Amino acid sequence: MNQTAIKYAREIEALFAKYPEEHRQSAVMPLLHLVHQDNSFISKHAINDIAEIVGISTTEVASVVGFYTLYHDHPEGKYRFQICTDLSCALQGADEFLRALCAALEIDPGGTTKDGLITVEEVMCLAACDKGPLFQVQGKDGISYHERQTVESAMQTVQELREQEKHE
Ligand code: FES
Repeated sequence: MNQTAIKYAREIEALFAKYPEEHRQSAVMPLLHLVHQDNSFISKHAINDIAEIVGISTTEVASVVGFYTLYHDHPEGKYRFQICTDLSCALQGADEFLRALCAALEIDPGGTTKDGLITVEEVMCLAACDKGPLFQVQGKDGISYHERQTVESAMQTVQELREQEKHE
């Protein structure tokens, strides 16, 4: 049984109304977005379901998930701090920033804090190459960008998220 098709029946109908029958595979991105927004990751099961819904292979859907840094195929922290360590940012100290932030959070790069709230990961260029070190925070409320960061300013963002979580 296709749980994704059942759960998002209305949304899928609305999405398919936008595409001609022969281009239904174009709905793969909005469908992935829908599932990701709800769960913070896209499970193998959901990948199979989406492939079946839009009529492409599971491998094709999985490769879309793998290509975009905004999609994840396994659960991690509720918020992802995605630090750009691409060349321009590396020249502005992104690697040192990544290591120092991870040390402050007592995790390794790619790891998740003990409270399960923050995952820190490296990503490629975020298109603000002169404003490093920088990261984007991907969470349940969408994405926010944090430019010209220090460990102190990043930890301030962590603290704000921890406070926010306490009140939810
Ligand atoms: S190299 Fe980091 S934003 Fe482009």
